[in-house]
Parts: sequence; structure tokens; C-alpha cells
Amino acid sequence: MNSKLVRFGVSLEEELLMRFDRLIRQRKYTNRSEAIRDMIREELIKKEWADNREVTGAITLVYDHHAKVLVTKVLDIQHDYHTCIQSSQHIHLDHHNCFEIIVTRGNAKIIEELYRKLKSIKSVKHAGFMMATKGR
Ligand code: NI
Repeated sequence: MNSKLVRFGVSLEEELLMRFDRLIRQRKYTNRSEAIRDMIREELIKKEWADNREVTGAITLVYDHHAKVLVTKVLDIQHDYHTCIQSSQHIHLDHHNCFEIIVTRGNAKIIEELYRKLKSIKSVKHAGFMMATKGR
């Protein structure tokens, strides 16, 4: 986003500010402005999703490819949602485990539905979900 910087003042309780400063130190921010900017952006992304807009995101899965029924299910579900899947990448982590990154783009509600279905497959060991925005 290329727009001019604007300053504004914020009033809050001393105790709350101390807790905030502790939090941003833990998160390795160099100053409050940087931390507040990030938090505002995060909230705006959540709002875009909540508004059911067209969004981009990534779903990650870890599963054991020896569970054949599970692997078929992971594929079947992806084909059901092919209109909102841009690409997927499969990494063989070790003898048992596979890691899959599914890049999604489309209606937020539908992508969330896809994520919930994949996540709830029994023996998917880990599922993650990252939402992105074009930064409006
Ligand atoms: Ni694999």
C-alpha cells in the first residue's frame, strides 16, 4: 500500500500499555507503531473473510500416506472444491508422513468449508490455515 503516513494519538490505561509493551517485546517488534499497524491489518483481513469476499489463502495438511482411505478422501474433497483451488504441493516428509500445501482463492465461506472438511478427516495429523489479502 503506497499512501502517506498519518499520526494519531491513543489514550489508554497505563497498566494496559505496560502489558501491550511486554507483548510486542515478546513478538520482537521494534516499536509500537509497527505492532499496531500489524494488528489493524490482521483485523481488516478477518473482516474481509467475515464479509464473505473473494480471498486468497493456504491450507496445510500433514498425514500418513499409508492410510489409503484417508488419502483418497483428501483427494476427493479437493476435487469437490476444484473451482477454489489454485494449486497444491505435496512434500514427502519421511517414510510415513506427507505434507501438503493447498493454495486457495475464492469465496471466503466456501474456502472455510473446504478447510473444515479436510481438517476433520480422521488421521489428518495436523491442519493449518493461513489467510492473505491484497492489502486494501
Ligand atoms: Ni507423500
